Amino acid sequence: MTPEPFYVTTPIYYVNARPHLGHAYTTLVADVLCRYQQMKQKETFLLTGTDEHGDKVVQAAKAENESPKDYVDKISGLFRDLWPKLNVRHHDFIRTTEPRHIAVVERVLQKIYDAGDIYFGEYEGLYCFGCERFYTEHELKDGKCPDHETEPEQIREHNYFFKMSRYQGWLIEHIQSHPDFIRPQRYRNEVLSFLKEPLEDLCISRPKTRLQWGITLPFDNNYVTYVWFDALLNYVSALGYPDGERFLKLWPHAQHIVAKDILKPHGIYWPTMLKAAGIPVYQHLNVHGYWNVDQSKMSKSLKNVIDPLALIQSYGLDAFRFFLMREMVFGLDAGFSEAALVARINSDLANDLGNLFSRTLAMAHKYFKGRVPEVPPEARDEMGFSIEKKAGDTISEFEAAMEAFAFHKALMAVWEFINQLNKYIDVTAPWMLAKDPSQHDLLAAVISNLLEGLYVISGLIYPIMPETAQTMQKHLGLKPDARFFDLDRLGPFNRIRSGTHLPRATALFPRIDTEKNKTQGSDKTHSVAALQPVKPEIDIETFRKLDLRVVTVLKAESIPKAKRLLALEVDMGEIRTVVSGIAQSYKPADLIGKQIVLAANLKPAKIMGVLSKGMMLAVADGEHAVALTVDKPVKPGTPVT
Ligand code: ME8
Ligand code: MG
Repeated sequence: MTPEPFYVTTPIYYVNARPHLGHAYTTLVADVLCRYQQMKQKETFLLTGTDEHGDKVVQAAKAENESPKDYVDKISGLFRDLWPKLNVRHHDFIRTTEPRHIAVVERVLQKIYDAGDIYFGEYEGLYCFGCERFYTEHELKDGKCPDHETEPEQIREHNYFFKMSRYQGWLIEHIQSHPDFIRPQRYRNEVLSFLKEPLEDLCISRPKTRLQWGITLPFDNNYVTYVWFDALLNYVSALGYPDGERFLKLWPHAQHIVAKDILKPHGIYWPTMLKAAGIPVYQHLNVHGYWNVDQSKMSKSLKNVIDPLALIQSYGLDAFRFFLMREMVFGLDAGFSEAALVARINSDLANDLGNLFSRTLAMAHKYFKGRVPEVPPEARDEMGFSIEKKAGDTISEFEAAMEAFAFHKALMAVWEFINQLNKYIDVTAPWMLAKDPSQHDLLAAVISNLLEGLYVISGLIYPIMPETAQTMQKHLGLKPDARFFDLDRLGPFNRIRSGTHLPRATALFPRIDTEKNKTQGSDKTHSVAALQPVKPEIDIETFRKLDLRVVTVLKAESIPKAKRLLALEVDMGEIRTVVSGIAQSYKPADLIGKQIVLAANLKPAKIMGVLSKGMMLAVADGEHAVALTVDKPVKPGTPVT
């Protein structure tokens, strides 16, 4: 039986601005998923494209003194050219200005109109030109559009409406009977809670007196189609709806990926449109959170966008892909900073994976002349067997996490295995074994286990870091063929034949010098983060009540089951223990000997079973904490005045 195909879509991006990190993330998720499904021999189809009609685009074209047509061609081209640079392999790129799309929009509109679900009526309301939609009073924040932070305008006009309200009951029922129709759960709940209020009909036209840049309604030449009614249909027009071969084969397996900004159109408009048009609804809507920069959503309207190409140039493509997948928990927001990217590269890639790889290959060269050693079966060590078992467990954990869109967890499972292999080297100390000829077979077993482990790792990182996967396999003496990443080839050890020649390894990921390397983003001059509101004024007396001291860190330890916390033993003339939430930014060893600042008269509190006497001061840089220190060493316990 051939496995069912995998069809995944990204939003089609507006061409009113250039591609940024947010677009890159969604599209990379789609690529990672496709590559993962290919590891399971599935046929995949990734659709992306551009959304080119509507007011916003006309305004953006005007601002650049270009005709809408020239402008959309130019920006759409930027998106199209970006994907190969990110190693995204999409199978189709749809533009809403293409005839194949326009024909489908007309056809579906006519079908719904003929069925009696579109009517002509009058509408008056508050309209946000940025969003191209009407807002109800209670959707606004302080009278302003929550997305654009501008006041909507009151407008009144005759328009066509889609009887969306008719499908409210059906939609609620569908969501309730298909628990993973919208996922993760929080977004399913959000849609269900929208649906508790009566659903209004959807205005689906714009008079040509106000807007010409759109698809003319097939039943009224004086109107163009509302941009969402046009855009959503890309997911079927690209497949050749209604009878194209791709449509018949792929549509029953459709999954969409979007961020939470466009949950409502995808979770409500789209399924009701499909229902009204007599098209089966999609299988899954997968919703992720926002990449924030300095605590605000990155978006073109806030002018704090991060350019993916600049990052790739500075840090390399696979490191960039790794960071995005590792740092964001799919469904939640994440903070982007260049410092966090560098920290991940240096610790996870250069240190953990890079060192394991280069140490192993260097030892194979040193002790076995660059060939995979022969291991007599009786030489396999206990630890070697447990590593083989761990490899199998890692593959299962990886699969389970990937199925659940928990990319960060999939990578954490792989990194746990990497760290176990690093420990295996430290514990078996091959350099000691090499000194003792009677340990030759054990040495061979250790090196062989490490090479086999690296092979499993090379396969598992493939969807996220396809080039690194291939490089690793080449250096493991393999010739990566078209399906070198198949999941069922990983697994039990003994995949790399003894005697195989191992090319000398180069560094997979060079360490980044944090001082020299600054591109953008964390560079404050580039971001327009609003000043955080300053707290209400206090007098000097109040301030003097605070006893701040410089203390020296003597000991630092992680606290079981508390990922963010470290317990610090500090010297301030007396020895104290304080708990600090900096474990994700500092390794215990990095803190020892540092002089930090302590709020020393804060009421003691028990945190995760540890009594903390005082609070360490730190600065939050995105998601990372930076400890406050002094410019020159001072005596422990010195007050800050
Ligand atoms: O909404 N964090 O296009 P768009 C994460 N044309 N993802 C982000 C992001 C951020 N800060 N900013 C953007 C449209 N994205 C419509 C879609 S679909 C039929 C029509 C990503 O250019 C994310 O995928 O505003 C989000 O949903 C999408 O870009 C919005 O892109
Ligand atoms: Mg948007």
